[in-house]
Amino acid sequence: MIFDLTGKVALVTGAGQGVGAGIARRLADQGAAIAVNDLVADRASATVDELVERGARALAIQFDVGDYESVVAGVKEIEAQLGHIDVLVNNAGVPENMGVAKFSETTPADWASFVDVNLYGVLNCCNVVIKGMCERGFGRVITISSAAGTAGAPIGVAVYGASKGGGLAFMRNLALEVARQGVTANCIALGLMNNVPKEFLPALAESIPVGRAGDPDEIGACCVYLASDEAGWMTGQTLQLNGGSVTT
Ligand SMILES: NC(=O)c1ccc[n+]([C@@H]2O[C@H](COP(=O)([O-])OP(=O)(O)OC[C@H]3O[C@@H](n4cnc5c(N)ncnc54)[C@H](O)[C@@H]3O)[C@@H](O)[C@H]2O)c1
Repeated sequence: MIFDLTGKVALVTGAGQGVGAGIARRLADQGAAIAVNDLVADRASATVDELVERGARALAIQFDVGDYESVVAGVKEIEAQLGHIDVLVNNAGVPENMGVAKFSETTPADWASFVDVNLYGVLNCCNVVIKGMCERGFGRVITISSAAGTAGAPIGVAVYGASKGGGLAFMRNLALEVARQGVTANCIALGLMNNVPKEFLPALAESIPVGRAGDPDEIGACCVYLASDEAGWMTGQTLQLNGGSVTT
C-alpha cells in the first residue's frame, strides 16, 4: 500500500480538536500509532477515544508546547508508551481565546502567547525529537502554518502571522540542516478552515475560489503524504492548502 504508516509513531500537537484531530485521524487510518497532545487533557482524551474506536493505538498526552521542560517530559512518556517518534506534526498554534486586533492597538503583553505557541512551541518540539530522528536515519517534521504567515491577511492577525512566519523560516533552515540524515521538514500553510465559528463561515467561504472552507481531514491527507516513506524527496517546502485563496 502506498503511504503506509504501519509501525510509525506520530506526535500531533494540539490534536484535541479541529485540524489536529483531523490530522491524527488520517495518520491513524494509515496505521500510525498516535500521541495526541493538547493543552487541555479532556480534549486529548476525546480524540484518543475516537482513534481507538477506529482501531488505532493512541495515547493522550497533556503538555504546553511552549514550555520546554514539559515537552521533554511528554516526549519521554510517549517513547516509554508507544516507542520513538518518527513523525512530529506541530499543529498547536491558536492561543486559547485568540482575538483579532489591529497591530497598532496591541501592546507587548498581547504578543507573547502567539510567539510562545507558534515559535517556541515549534522550536521546543523539534529540539526534543530531532537528534533521535537523525540518529535513526528517518524523521518527518510537519508544521501547520497559515496564509497569515506567508501572504498576510488584513483581518487583525499581524502578530499571529509574525509568529507563524517565524516557525516557517525555522523549518526551512531545519530542513537543510538534517537533509542528509533521512529527515524532512515541511510546512502546510492553511487557508480558512470549516471549524471557525459557524456564523462567519458562509460569508468568509464565499471569498474562497473553490467556494468552501477546508476540512481537517483534508489537511490530514496532506500530512499522510508528507509523513510517508514516499515523501523522502520533499523537504524545505511550504505547501499552500487553501482552496485557491493564495496561488503560487
Ligand atoms: N482554523 C483555521 O481557519 C486555520 C487557518 C490557518 C491556520 N490554522 C492553523 O491550524 C492549526 C490548528 O488550528 P485549529 O483551528 O484546529 O485550532 P483549534 O483552536 O480549534 O485547536 C487547537 C488545539 O490546540 C490546543 N493548544 C493550544 N495551545 C496549545 C499549547 N500551547 N500546547 C498544546 N496544545 C495547545 C488547544 O487546546 C486546541 O485543542 C493551528 O496551527 C492554526 O494556526 C488554522
